[in-house]
Amino acid sequence: MIVVFCIALNVILVSGSSLSDRVYQTPAHVFNKPKEMAKINCSHSIDSYNQILWYKQSNRQLQFLGYMFSTSGNPEAGLGVKIEGSAEKDQNCTLTIEELSLSSSAVYFCAAR
Ligand SMILES: *[C@@H]1O[C@H](CO)[C@@H](O)[C@H](O)[C@H]1NC(C)=O
Ligand SMILES: *[C@@H]1O[C@H](CO)[C@@H](O)[C@H](O)[C@H]1NC(C)=O
Repeated sequence: MIVVFCIALNVILVSGSSLSDRVYQTPAHVFNKPKEMAKINCSHSIDSYNQILWYKQSNRQLQFLGYMFSTSGNPEAGLGVKIEGSAEKDQNCTLTIEELSLSSSAVYFCAAR
């Protein structure tokens, strides 16, 4: 039996509202099987911003997954996620969900500051 996951994505910006159209997330959707991994990229084009924060939203709760400061990833412990790449302007910060389970199905947000 194959279980299909839908990980829908969205973008928000924490500090300032008019800059949110300069934060980008790809791909828009990820469909993977249990035990596989999923990768999501976030980038921004805002001068002087160098942090990307990741959140998971499920059951109306927003869970902080960790952040990247410049090129240093700081995932929260015990969540099975990696944060790699760069949070500098026009670079990709990659969130990896290492082993998908049913509870991985959620909306994942990134924010830049
Ligand atoms: C994420 O960004 C990295 C580095 O730029 C790139 O190699 C990779 O293909 C991208 N992956 C996705 C899922 O967009
Ligand atoms: C970031 O990832 C996207 C795909 O997710 C890719 O199109 C783009 O070239 C990447 N940017 C950099 C700077 O690697």
